[in-house]
Amino acid sequence: MTSYEKLDRFYDAAMGDRTEMASYIRRLIRRHKPRARTLLELACGTGAILKILAKSYDVVGLDLSPSMLSIARKKLPQVKFFQRNMVSFDLGRKFDVIICVFDSINHVLEFADWQKIFRNAAQHLEEDGLFLFDINTKAKLDRLINAPTWVHKFGRNLEFINVTDGRRGIANWNIRVFEHRRGNKYGLFEEDIKQISFPVEKIRDALRKQFTSIKVIDPTARRPSAKSDRLYFVCKR
Ligand SMILES: C[S@@+](CC[C@H](N)C(=O)[O-])C[C@H]1O[C@@H](n2cnc3c(N)ncnc32)[C@H](O)[C@@H]1O
Repeated sequence: MTSYEKLDRFYDAAMGDRTEMASYIRRLIRRHKPRARTLLELACGTGAILKILAKSYDVVGLDLSPSMLSIARKKLPQVKFFQRNMVSFDLGRKFDVIICVFDSINHVLEFADWQKIFRNAAQHLEEDGLFLFDINTKAKLDRLINAPTWVHKFGRNLEFINVTDGRRGIANWNIRVFEHRRGNKYGLFEEDIKQISFPVEKIRDALRKQFTSIKVIDPTARRPSAKSDRLYFVCKR
């Protein structure tokens, strides 16, 4: 079973409006690759971000999870989606921009596999193409491990997220959704999702092997630091 198989149908409702993140990504692309036309999203999930970016780019999506992709295909019937592992994909074509966002890369638990993703992304980019991805930092995962369970209401459903120390640097996100049925009856859907993070310098060193320019950006406009929650990496071939 791939991750999100039990939570797929709640994903969009639980995440809410994604316009802000998609607009931020579009601003980064416009700044760093203004003439971009084609875009591939690695780990596109339900296509929530692609739906917004499809207004500006000719988009393609890739994800490991068949159930997330089936939601994406319904949402964007005109878009091509591939069920692939981003660690080992070969689509036989190149793109102006490749993105991998919403800490999707943190789901890949071995650093050797992050290096393969960087290599695959570089190989699927046109000359001067842009690879843009974000991470949850180690500081953020540590903060979440020490935080109380997060409770979130969406519609009439309840979501509980409890992040615990899964050992060897892994953060285990235990996600429980109580789906409202009727009266005070709920159905429970539960999944554990694992994430890991690596030091920014280690990531930058690995990227240098594939990309000529690498910028690290904290979206809160603070200076990127070990304390940042989310960091974007903007990489040029
Ligand atoms: C947090 S969701 C993000 C989805 C989408 N990028 C968004 O912003 O809504 C993470 C996605 O990563 C996908 N994923 C995890 N590991 C993957 C891998 N090795 N290759 C491709 N997709 C993967 C999961 O199936 C899931 O859809």
